[in-house]
Amino acid sequence: MHKDVERILFTEEEIKQSVERIGREITADYSGKTPLLVGILKGSVIFTADLLREIDLMCDIDFMVAKSYGNAAVSSGNVRILKDLDTDITGRDVIIVEDILDTARTLAAVKSYLMQKNPASVKICTLLDKVTAEKVSDVRADYKCFDVGNEFVVGYGLDYAEIYRNLKYIGVLKREVYEK
Ligand code: IMP
Repeated sequence: MHKDVERILFTEEEIKQSVERIGREITADYSGKTPLLVGILKGSVIFTADLLREIDLMCDIDFMVAKSYGNAAVSSGNVRILKDLDTDITGRDVIIVEDILDTARTLAAVKSYLMQKNPASVKICTLLDKVTAEKVSDVRADYKCFDVGNEFVVGYGLDYAEIYRNLKYIGVLKREVYEK
């Protein structure tokens, strides 16, 4: 695995510190409330689990599966909701937890879908934001750990063809891996 990574962008320690910071922000912003974290599987599973433990409030979690990428390293333009929530979100303060905001297509679709269910609020928390990527919607992150450039990154939950999610750091995948 490690040999396929061109360079490390964020170390395990840097990720930990950033997740702690976001946890503190959410704890302060949602004081007196019981937010629901909605992790978008599979990419956000590690981030969601770590973030949950940094929020010092009563809160619960649920998961959705929304897919906009196949095994390709470029966006296919399709978003499908393959697994819905188990929780009734009427009147709830929802925080969508995503691994990476690229074109914002996935999050735009998920957010508008959740808004139809009459939650009290819906905010977006992303581990990474591809700031230079062309966004196809006006959906932006309310909370984020790091900005990244227009490179294909893996690790800490992010995959290429289902591999590399278990890297403890976030790194840029060598082009030759996804261009071969
Ligand atoms: P969007 O709908 O274009 O914002 O794409 C978001 C989804 O694309 C993310 O949840 C990831 O699953 C995937 N994705 C986008 N860029 C990367 C990347 O650099 N590495 C791994 N997955 C990515």
